[in-house]
Amino acid sequence: MSTVLDTITSRSSIRKYTDQPIPQDICRTIIEAGLKAPTAANRQEIHITVTAGSDPVNQEIQNDMNPNAPVNFYYNAPVVFYLSGPDAFKWSAVDAGIAVQNMHLAAADLGLGSVILGCMEATLNGEKKAKYAKKLAFPEGHSYLVALAVGYPDTAKEPHAFDFEKNVTIL
Ligand SMILES: Cc1cc2nc3c(=O)[nH]c(=O)nc-3n(C[C@H](O)[C@H](O)[C@H](O)COP(=O)(O)O)c2cc1C
Repeated sequence: MSTVLDTITSRSSIRKYTDQPIPQDICRTIIEAGLKAPTAANRQEIHITVTAGSDPVNQEIQNDMNPNAPVNFYYNAPVVFYLSGPDAFKWSAVDAGIAVQNMHLAAADLGLGSVILGCMEATLNGEKKAKYAKKLAFPEGHSYLVALAVGYPDTAKEPHAFDFEKNVTIL
């Protein structure tokens, strides 16, 4: 097994997947990686909805976003996880971000690829919010925060370059 730093260093977002389904135990390990993430005051308020890529709700979201897109928002991944959290808790978005990154890294460590998805925000939290909250089984008072598409990679991508000088100040 690789170290956390190995995985952080080698991972990248994957946007092309094979048809190979994800075994249930692997799926469970990825979900648990999200649930093991730290949350503010240990509230553990982030809810994860698991959908098959083929679930009609994903197609419906795509149609509302852009029915003519050359590729759907989840890149035909076999599984899409939706993370939602309570509007009433000010740390929900931060906690969801930490949880989804745990899941992204866990997927990479298990030999899968994944990509964090924010592009459905306007659709899921817009005028059809109540309909989608019901279809995605969000707990009462929750809003969509972020999602993760996961599958076996059908492409490889180099880790992105970064500019230490630009983004870091050492006082
Ligand atoms: C909050 C957030 C939202 C994102 N939303 C999308 C998205 O909707 N679609 C997509 O293809 N990638 C999305 N990404 C992935 C970023 O585009 C990607 O992380 C970035 O380009 C850097 O590439 P890398 O992850 O391969 O290093 C998102 C990433 C984050 C952190």
